[in-house]
Amino acid sequence: MKNKAVDIYFFSGTGNTYLAAEKIAQKLQSGGCQTNLFPIEKSDPLKVDLTKTIGIGFTVACWNTYPLVRKFIKSLPKTNGTEAFVFCTMGDSSFKTQAEYARILKEKGYCLIGSKAFRMPNNFIAIQDEEKNKIRISLALPKIECFAEDILDGKAETEKTGVISKICFKISCFITGLWETSLSQKMINLRIKKDLCVKCGFCVKICPTGNIALQDYPVFKDKCQVCLRCSSYCFQKAINSFAVLSAKRYRALDKENAKNVFC
Ligand SMILES: Cc1cc2nc3c(=O)[nH]c(=O)nc-3n(C[C@H](O)[C@H](O)[C@H](O)COP(=O)(O)O)c2cc1C
Repeated sequence: MKNKAVDIYFFSGTGNTYLAAEKIAQKLQSGGCQTNLFPIEKSDPLKVDLTKTIGIGFTVACWNTYPLVRKFIKSLPKTNGTEAFVFCTMGDSSFKTQAEYARILKEKGYCLIGSKAFRMPNNFIAIQDEEKNKIRISLALPKIECFAEDILDGKAETEKTGVISKICFKISCFITGLWETSLSQKMINLRIKKDLCVKCGFCVKICPTGNIALQDYPVFKDKCQVCLRCSSYCFQKAINSFAVLSAKRYRALDKENAKNVFC
């Protein structure tokens, strides 16, 4: 990496990608870089500082990512050789979506210095096993550290895309794009368990799209991206959706950290 000033833009629904972004930032800092972390949902793509190296990190969703992340990446300005790296966290398979987004950046004139997906706990529907999740994180963090080290040394891989990953990317862009339609919003079926809700308003503060308003109880609008942040970090377990089948929720951060990162 030639440029030692790095801005990392990340989106994290339940905390995994934040842990990855934080680990990369720490490693780059210890390698002499000045590094900042910015949540994508609070960042304007047109104000990205192209004189710095740019890192982009996101959650894999439906072999792609959330529409808000895609819009951010697609809206980044064209440039002439700004260094960039892309990483994502997934439950099991990303179908190389990170390489597809890296390709989009390359087409905009960014100089790709690495792309990689990291396997973390699956936050979607699965009945969570805390021990297994801890193991997954402890296996992922050293790999993430290695990736950052390779970025520093200019040795990180930039994965190739192929015909299959391109087709899969197009299909998954279409499917995740449908999430913003009113029919999908109905199917997501967010609902409040009034007997558990204490009207604390935490869900309102942490929702990345401003989809929740506190009236008598929280009410949901039609901008849900299925990141699961509200249901995972409702410590009362008062929010359900089609994606929350069990009483267990996945969260990578404790309450204090969640406040600092998401609010
Ligand atoms: C709606 C949704 C769709 C998902 N789709 C995939 C997928 O296609 N492939 C995969 O490996 N993991 C998938 N996952 C799991 C997440 O990518 C994984 O748990 C990720 O590390 C969560 O990161 P975060 O905590 O930063 O949001 C999905 C999760 C959600 C909520």
